[in-house]
Amino acid sequence: MPIIAPSLLASNFLRLADECNMLNNSEADWLHLDVMDGRFVPNISFGLPVIEQIRTATTKILDVHLMIEDPGNYAAAFATAGADILTVHIEACRNLHRNIQQIKGLGMKVGVAVNPHTPIHLLVDIIADIDLVNLMSVNPGFGGQQFIPYTLEKIRQLRQLINERGLAVDIEIDGGVTLANAATIVEAGATVLVAGSSVFKAADPIKAIADLKNVVNTHHIGT
Ligand code: DX5
Ligand code: ZN
Repeated sequence: MPIIAPSLLASNFLRLADECNMLNNSEADWLHLDVMDGRFVPNISFGLPVIEQIRTATTKILDVHLMIEDPGNYAAAFATAGADILTVHIEACRNLHRNIQQIKGLGMKVGVAVNPHTPIHLLVDIIADIDLVNLMSVNPGFGGQQFIPYTLEKIRQLRQLINERGLAVDIEIDGGVTLANAATIVEAGATVLVAGSSVFKAADPIKAIADLKNVVNTHHIGT
């Protein structure tokens, strides 16, 4: 069944413990944590000490999305901080295959993220080595942006590649996910939906998560 991963980038950082408790009591499957360095993306978010604290507040899977240059330099530190899944950007790695092996060696699941301008075919030689592809459906760096429609075509291309190879790689969609487009996204073949604004800016975030969960369970294609 598809996974819902609320992104804490849109949460209230002054009340992080409450936000974690809310998520613990919700149908959220994973917590998506966006780390930004002000170099790979034009924004700075939060990092290791915050993730260490979040780790103590939840047993849910921590899905850490590194929007940082040379992420291999920090992989061990994120493992220690409590990341379960570590995703690095294809555009930020000079030696992506080495970084993938490094992350696996540290006992984490490994994801590769691709920006909107990066074609799916660049993944063909590493797709069998990874657990997840994060298809960015906005330009990374900020929450609250509009979903880029061409992402649907990229989901279909990636779904075809994964199915042709008989793999079980997750397709995660990150950016601009709402209750209105969630069905189309899972019908195209996605298995993980990240949702920031559409969860945390909702009047009732627990209900927003439940509604998303309900839509994706109804529309998923059994991948
Ligand atoms: C953007 C981040 C996203 C972001 C999504 O760079 O990777 O995870 O938090 O936020 P929404 O759902 O508001 O587009
Ligand atoms: Zn993200």
